[in-house]
Amino acid sequence: MERTAWRCPDADGFRWAEETLKRTEHKFAQVSVRSAGKIPYTARDGVHDDWSDDKHIYWWTNGFWGGIMWQLYALTGESKEQYRKNAEWTEERLDHCLMDPGAMDHDSGFRWLPTAVADYRLTGNRRSRDRGILAATNLAGRFNHAGRFIRAWNDWDQTDHRGWAIIDCMMNLPLLYWASEETGDPRFRQTAELHADTAMKSFVRGDGSVNHIVEFDIEHGGMVRSYGGQGYGEGSSWTRGQAWGLYGFTLSCLHTENAAYLDTAERIANYFIANIPENGLIPVDFRQPEDVEWEDATAAAIAACGLIELAKLRAGRQGRVYLDAALKMLRALEERSCNWNPEEDPLLEKCTAAYHDEKHEFPIIYGDYFFLEALLKLTGNETLFIW
Ligand code: GLY
Repeated sequence: MERTAWRCPDADGFRWAEETLKRTEHKFAQVSVRSAGKIPYTARDGVHDDWSDDKHIYWWTNGFWGGIMWQLYALTGESKEQYRKNAEWTEERLDHCLMDPGAMDHDSGFRWLPTAVADYRLTGNRRSRDRGILAATNLAGRFNHAGRFIRAWNDWDQTDHRGWAIIDCMMNLPLLYWASEETGDPRFRQTAELHADTAMKSFVRGDGSVNHIVEFDIEHGGMVRSYGGQGYGEGSSWTRGQAWGLYGFTLSCLHTENAAYLDTAERIANYFIANIPENGLIPVDFRQPEDVEWEDATAAAIAACGLIELAKLRAGRQGRVYLDAALKMLRALEERSCNWNPEEDPLLEKCTAAYHDEKHEFPIIYGDYFFLEALLKLTGNETLFIW
């Protein structure tokens, strides 16, 4: 499906997004200089940490810094060479991971779409294209034919993960769609569609909520059980997982025009919208105990991106419902969860990696990435489509 120019049809929402995008770019113009030579995941005392060394380069979030840099480079033009330099440096550091097959997991989309593939799309760099194809080939190689799913993780913590798939993988599928478009070979797309079909059946529940982890029988196929994963518990509703599903199925629809993916994305979206609290701030799990108030700003930013895409696809009242929900969450983030001090590195500060972790509500780089992406969509400035 061709992605066409679009901007927020709500005049007030558009003005707000333009103003907020200006503030975001103003901040990153300074952060990009201070954090050159780093690949940040979080920040301490307002200063980005660095995951670029050989030990930490495998971390699944290491593509988002490059993605922020390429998006800002596309927005500001060649005047901001710092953005391009940081992005290229990140892409090269990621080769350490790409050349270590034992360390590769299913998050190739998260790592190489915002880096190598973005570089190729913007500059035509052939070496970046090669990186993207190599990453896609590795991702497709994780497909289990009996269960028709892409294996998520390798074995760690002495746990056998051969049968495990996770909802997050819906966001990695666009790497496979891109690889088929780029090579003309349908196998990548076919693999993505088979996984998406399985996810529709096994992850999405009757009420539109989704499981985080599903285990399949690796020899005969079929669902064995689900796990609570990074959410509150089995059968709960981890909000970032809902957001990955919402945006991920929307993207599968955009790449394939399969109406079943759109229907699934809308079922998840309607469930998500029905659970947005009055203040617009998203909890870590929609089913967490009532006296727990931990927020996950990343879930809000990711879901907003998916809802904006749905608003583009649906004219009329339904589209307006999606857009209003996205604006409500984004405005709440801007007012309550962002650090607008340009002297400090992180932007979104109320992010949570997992419900049962010791730490909650801290800066996480992909929160910043998706907040920026949402603003680019609303202002009609998303010329670089990462996913
Ligand atoms: N993909 C892992 C997470 O969302 O935390």
